[in-house]
Amino acid sequence: ADVFTYDPGFTSTASCDSTITFIDGDKGELLHRGYPIDQLAEKSHFLEVAYLLLYGELPSADQLEDFESRVTMHTMLHEQMVNFFRGFRRDAHPMAVMVGVVGAMSAFYHDSTDISDPWQREVASIRLIAKMPTIAAWAYKYHIGQPFVYPKNDLDYASNFLRMCFSVPAEEYVVNPILSRAMDRIFTLHADHEQNASTSTVRLASSSGANPFACIAAGVACLWGPAHGGANQACLEMLREIGSVDRIPEFIERAKDKNDPFRLMGFGHRVYKNFDPRAKVMKQSADEVLDLLGVENNPTLQVAKELERIALEDPYFKEKKLYPNVDFYSGIILDAMGFPTSMFTPIFALARTVGWISQWKEMIADPQMKIGRPRQLYVGETARDYVDVEDR
Ligand code: CMC
Repeated sequence: ADVFTYDPGFTSTASCDSTITFIDGDKGELLHRGYPIDQLAEKSHFLEVAYLLLYGELPSADQLEDFESRVTMHTMLHEQMVNFFRGFRRDAHPMAVMVGVVGAMSAFYHDSTDISDPWQREVASIRLIAKMPTIAAWAYKYHIGQPFVYPKNDLDYASNFLRMCFSVPAEEYVVNPILSRAMDRIFTLHADHEQNASTSTVRLASSSGANPFACIAAGVACLWGPAHGGANQACLEMLREIGSVDRIPEFIERAKDKNDPFRLMGFGHRVYKNFDPRAKVMKQSADEVLDLLGVENNPTLQVAKELERIALEDPYFKEKKLYPNVDFYSGIILDAMGFPTSMFTPIFALARTVGWISQWKEMIADPQMKIGRPRQLYVGETARDYVDVEDR
């Protein structure tokens, strides 16, 4: 009989080799093309990091300008896509809309679906990075019943997204540079994270030769779950459910109870077992935004701070090496900015798109590329004869 390695959850199986992102979970280290994430988050910005992930090196000033103008050129959606949005139920979750709309891009942009053509691959990549903020913002506008706001290309990537989300025809929206910087940092910190569940999904989907829009839609679908990208929404909802500092011990006890499926959302990570380096930068950003918006008396924030303190001292969390992850702080920032929790995962999806595409491009260009086809350990019935229905 065939003998396979059995590795549920792929905790010790490398599915590919890659030159994009390096993680050392014990040291809490995350590098993109060799550059530490904290340096990129401090000194760089999202589109520059996007270039780095896609092409392998930091761009020169000219290369960056050219890349930014190529992205800017593609921010509009085909006007017919408005009809596609309108087909959704009016209160649809923005992630449901995103899964559908991103998949539908294969129908609207079939001049960039031939993956054997490097030029088409490049156009599909730029289209996805450029249009994702427009798609996410429109999913939000549709969800709250406001008119779609078209992109404004003299704004930077993050400011453009904020404006498409928060501007209404009745008054001009002025983007606050501190909020725009915080938004850009959230995008940068979520840009790539090697072979996580959604990225592996994109790779597996594209290993069959499926077009890039279909593959990225598969990534969006996988990201939605609460153990992955959905954790930021689940975390803020949990903080609200806890409601006040005096109820924290009750939830800590529930998280430790093996008979209770409840987990502390925003805590723990498959790879980081000491701290999540993204969470460190995100925490700084949260302080900046909260200072600006003056929400010190916000009960959700008070619960978050106290929960973090108690969990970090609790022997259960210490022993299992459970620390706040990136989603613990990003939700607090997005909430303070005025985003409803339903937008947290779409924002993660738009930022991670560049990581998915970089990994997709790397895989397509790899001469060793094979269709992904895991095996299984069969534990079902052995062969048996069919029994007619009247004899069962
Ligand atoms: N609260 C309470 N207990 C936990 C938690 C938690 N958040 N996370 C893990 N544990 C316990 C778990 O019960 C297990 O205990 P035992 O050894 O007694 O069975 C032990 O810690 C190891 O957990 P695991 O589920 O085997 O670890 P994993 O690597 O499979 O899971 C995780 C990683 C992120 C799915 C998990 O920690 C979790 O569910 N966290 C909450 C959801 C979350 O915040 N996800 C976002 C991750 S970061 C962004 C992203 O990837 O999208």
